[in-house]
Amino acid sequence: MITGNMGYIGPCVVKRLSASYPDVTLIGLDMGYFANCLTNTEILPECNVDVQYFADMRRCPKELLTGVNAVVHLAAISNDPMGNAFEELTHDINYRSSIELARKAKEAGVRRFVFASSCSMYGSADDAPRTETSPLNPLTSYAKSKVFTERDLENLADREFVVTSLRFATACGMSERLRLDLVLNDFVAGAVASKKITILSDGTPWRPLINIKDMARAIEWAIKRKVTEGGEFLAVNTGSNEWNYQVKDLAEAVARVIPDVDISINKNAQPDKRSYRVSFDLYKKLAPEYQPEVSLITTISELKSGLEMMSFNNPDFRNSKFMRLKVLTHLRNIGLLTETLEWKNKLLNNQFNSRTKD
Ligand SMILES: NC(=O)c1ccc[n+]([C@@H]2O[C@H](COP(=O)([O-])OP(=O)(O)OC[C@H]3O[C@@H](n4cnc5c(N)ncnc54)[C@H](O)[C@@H]3O)[C@@H](O)[C@H]2O)c1
Repeated sequence: MITGNMGYIGPCVVKRLSASYPDVTLIGLDMGYFANCLTNTEILPECNVDVQYFADMRRCPKELLTGVNAVVHLAAISNDPMGNAFEELTHDINYRSSIELARKAKEAGVRRFVFASSCSMYGSADDAPRTETSPLNPLTSYAKSKVFTERDLENLADREFVVTSLRFATACGMSERLRLDLVLNDFVAGAVASKKITILSDGTPWRPLINIKDMARAIEWAIKRKVTEGGEFLAVNTGSNEWNYQVKDLAEAVARVIPDVDISINKNAQPDKRSYRVSFDLYKKLAPEYQPEVSLITTISELKSGLEMMSFNNPDFRNSKFMRLKVLTHLRNIGLLTETLEWKNKLLNNQFNSRTKD
């Protein structure tokens, strides 16, 4: 079962798992907040799962997990701006409901639980790369939710319920449900739409990145890793040492692929506290066959051609449906979502209730 399969990373994870495990039943579970935010796809990405629950994981009945071998838990309020706008809900969905889901999964006999955690839990750090044993310094509600979830997952893990928390670097790359609220994707979008890259900071913050295809490979590894490789509970930085970049280096790399781009740096910006370098040595040691493969230049080129295929030309994309916060706020403003981000629409809201009655 893959929760949050209808987001940015999900479609890529589903593709990877269906190619690697053609005989396995893949179940998707998603609220569908961004169902309508498709990019350039002929067919809904959900056609690649065997069963799709269009539903809220806050109310996931245990029976749904019966017979499931592994849960890949992606569903979340997935960045800092949304976490700031919906603080309570971020705590509730990302932390409380995630632990409830894990508990139900364990009771239902699920044997593997893979959690999409984040390197953002290192927060502000000096230039020395953070390892898994470095102190955590979560600066935002989003980062805190990941710290709390990891802590409680560790208590649930045992030989029968093996948990892997993948502390992912910031994602990048082309997807059927592209996000442009991620640093590299934003730079490529600016370069394609208006030949301009606007760096909101002074360009110096460190940000490790990972391509979503490499995230999907890491998830596959986590599903099948031996307990002897990392233990019953493992939290591991997931990315590669070569992909620790300063934000200005990313902009320059984009300008190498897309010529005549103007890069503007905000010299007067307040220092961006979210700066951290990360050591990915442990992941390299544990998963030598699953190391990130896609290069930065390939990632930029794929984003460029993906955007061009969409005839993307909106210089105001930071206010578009490719920004997760904009979509949630809009759906709430027009009354489709409640204050607590539940659908008002009967079918979506009642799916689990009617299934339970059946
Ligand atoms: N994108 C990144 O840079 C990055 C980096 C590290 C970790 N992660 C983590 O990876 C996961 C996936 O990220 P993404 O970029 O695909 O995010 P996304 O926002 O594109 O997708 C999240 C999905 O979760 C679903 N969801 C949210 N609340 C739900 C609920 N209550 N019930 C059911 N579904 C719900 C949404 O509808 C959405 O489809 C998240 O947990 C995120 O924190 C992402």
